[in-house]
Amino acid sequence: MTRTDNPPTLEASTSDDPPCPLPGSTRSRRSLLRALGACVIGGGGVLAASCSSTNYGDEFYTLRLAAFGKDVMWMPSSRAISLAMLEAARIAPGDVVYDLGSGDGIIPILAAQHFGARAVGIEYNPDLVALSRRNAARAGVSDRVSFRKGDIFLEDFSEASVVTLYLGEDLNQRLRPRLEALKPGTRVVSNRFGLGSWGPDEVIDRVPNEYAMLWIVPVQVGGVWRVLTPVKPLPERIEIIQSNQILELRTRSGYFHTVVGQGRLRGQSINVVLETTGAAKLSASGTAETERIETIATPPNGSSKGSEAIPLILERLRVRPGITDP
Ligand SMILES: C[S@@+](CC[C@H](N)C(=O)[O-])C[C@H]1O[C@@H](n2cnc3c(N)ncnc32)[C@H](O)[C@@H]1O
Repeated sequence: MTRTDNPPTLEASTSDDPPCPLPGSTRSRRSLLRALGACVIGGGGVLAASCSSTNYGDEFYTLRLAAFGKDVMWMPSSRAISLAMLEAARIAPGDVVYDLGSGDGIIPILAAQHFGARAVGIEYNPDLVALSRRNAARAGVSDRVSFRKGDIFLEDFSEASVVTLYLGEDLNQRLRPRLEALKPGTRVVSNRFGLGSWGPDEVIDRVPNEYAMLWIVPVQVGGVWRVLTPVKPLPERIEIIQSNQILELRTRSGYFHTVVGQGRLRGQSINVVLETTGAAKLSASGTAETERIETIATPPNGSSKGSEAIPLILERLRVRPGITDP
């Protein structure tokens, strides 16, 4: 990488930085907004003249802040937040990292350099694609990093085990159905922008004045399940209402239902707390697949069953398409 400084982001800051980003300086959202005038992420490509001096590219391509991008202009993630995002995603050498709208390639290059992952950047601006390839060669990771010139809304990224984003709330929302359909356990990390009603599993806030969020794609378990192991007084059938990683467990009698527990998924890891009337609460943890959930339930100390662990196994009877309760 030629870029050794921390490039600016649109992060909130209370500092009073100079209006134009300077190489090596700590630059804030306020300074950038002041410098860029009306130019905001997710908008057009208007760059104030006072900001046109810094070249984030190389000797072959001069890259300015707010360079053209199809649906959002180029603004770089800082090296610090990029590393924090990749760390939070717990990237291992077997992972395949996709950066959607990869700019100058910083995130895929760091994923390969620091975590040994294979990484792919999808970028619409051909000049940025060419720059990214040169940056990857300079970083010595061309064998593990590739850049594709394309539109993130058309390109396939279903092989990803980690997806990184720095796009904006609206674009994230447009991508959301495809993110939700990724393999269970896939980590999605977004610099600064959320995914609407899909709340994050973690907020990454250890970089001053910057933050990102992590989501872990949950397995789909919404539907009706048969309880295979007799854990009294749990009923034989349980309905699971799923809203992304959040679960509600119910029993149903005709039109009426009773909530019997709450749960949470992290990919295929499941934790539930069962609150059946008249019984001590049971906490159960284990693994969820689309057809079978296997957990070990532990009654709290002091209950009639002591702390003896009980296998709690469920088998799917019916899928409930549409993950939220009507
Ligand atoms: C805010 S920048 C983020 C760059 C990089 N991911 C980072 O974090 O430093 C967004 C990037 O998305 C690219 N982009 C915008 N719309 C796109 C689209 N439809 N398909 C592919 N890339 C797109 C822009 O050219 C820009 O480089």
